[in-house]
Amino acid sequence: MQPNVLGYNESTRIGKPQMNPDLETPRLILREECLEDAERLFSYRQRPAYWQHIPCHPPTRDDIVAQIAHFLPQQSAHDRTMFFWVAIEKATCLVTGEASLWLLPDHGAEFAFAVDNRHWRKGYGSEIVRGILRFGFHSLRLHRLCAQVVPSNIASIALLRSLGMVEEGVLRERRRARGRWFDLAQFSMLEQEYARRGF
Ligand SMILES: CC(C)(COP(=O)(O)OP(=O)(O)OC[C@H]1O[C@@H](n2cnc3c(N)ncnc32)[C@H](O)[C@@H]1OP(=O)(O)O)[C@@H](O)C(=O)NCCC(=O)NCCS
Repeated sequence: MQPNVLGYNESTRIGKPQMNPDLETPRLILREECLEDAERLFSYRQRPAYWQHIPCHPPTRDDIVAQIAHFLPQQSAHDRTMFFWVAIEKATCLVTGEASLWLLPDHGAEFAFAVDNRHWRKGYGSEIVRGILRFGFHSLRLHRLCAQVVPSNIASIALLRSLGMVEEGVLRERRRARGRWFDLAQFSMLEQEYARRGF
């Protein structure tokens, strides 16, 4: 079967978009990451507010450069499975957040997101997640999108709930970082739930 206009094959449904996967929300552009973003990402990822509820080690500038460089080939990969975006505030053209999505078997994907803490509670996190859900369900035609969050991450959990994502349970001591174990609460949305919500 021929790929359709968006570049994915209807027989597999999993998107292999040939299109530019940049996304737009009312106040943000989600553009694929490039090496020039490293400095700006480092400026907020180094703050405890960023990684406090994320099971990771505080990243160095070099870690961020290496991570971007590692995933750059994905942007032109034929069978791409990962997407990394920076969220650019339209009003200022500055990076104010980020998002990522990676495909899982059986028409699924997991995503993650963050906002520079100088811009929290302005609705940017919700815009980013709405953009990701739209990309996953509309463009990639996925069946299920999920996100995993440390249970102490009240902000992220409230955001996911407010968009209708359903908590499925807690993966106990799923990740190890900073010398300790982290539980992860899993949230998901299915394509029929997304269609009912209509955003
Ligand atoms: C989670 C995060 C992305 C939220 O971003 P944000 O731009 O502040 O979120 P929004 O402004 O869109 O908030 C949406 C809703 O989430 C809830 N919320 C957000 N921050 C909250 C907080 N600190 N406490 C309680 N509820 C909160 C509220 O219901 C809010 O709606 P309201 O402002 O109308 O009350 C941000 O706190 C962040 O980047 N944290 C660090 C990274 C992270 O934890 N990422 C998620 C792991 S994948």
